Amino acid sequence: MSRIALVHGPNLNMLGRRPSEHYGTLTLPELESQVRAWGTERGMVVGTFQTNFEGAMLEHLHGLAGAVDGIVINPGAWTHYQYSVRDALESVGAPFVEVHLSDLDARENFRKVSVVRDIALATVKGKGPGGYREALDILKAELSA
Ligand code: DQA
Repeated sequence: MSRIALVHGPNLNMLGRRPSEHYGTLTLPELESQVRAWGTERGMVVGTFQTNFEGAMLEHLHGLAGAVDGIVINPGAWTHYQYSVRDALESVGAPFVEVHLSDLDARENFRKVSVVRDIALATVKGKGPGGYREALDILKAELSA
């Protein structure tokens, strides 16, 4: 079984209450259990984490070093400017896929920048919850290569 960390950044605990045209209607617990089920189908154990606090995110990421085979992360707004999250992801040394529920390129200009994209294995955006399934498939292919 591969060990996968599913990590969410700020405000993603509010899924279900955020604008549904961008984020759909699933709550975070519903999304996490869906991703866990997709992981099980793929021989992956998925551990989940969400925080609104930068330090908590950094320390969680540090703890993943050597403990997981891959990461699926939706860094929320930190995507666009938070270099400390980028550096922490880089330090983990496991491949990660960046996922966004909404299509960042079709929204405000500030969302078009991602400070993690160039070190991610892949970026999946604008595909709603199905983007997380795609991220698992990308990691599965990478881990079995
Ligand atoms: C998001 C997009 C970000 O711009 C935003 O700040 C989020 C969610 C997405 O999943 O589409 O919180 O990462």
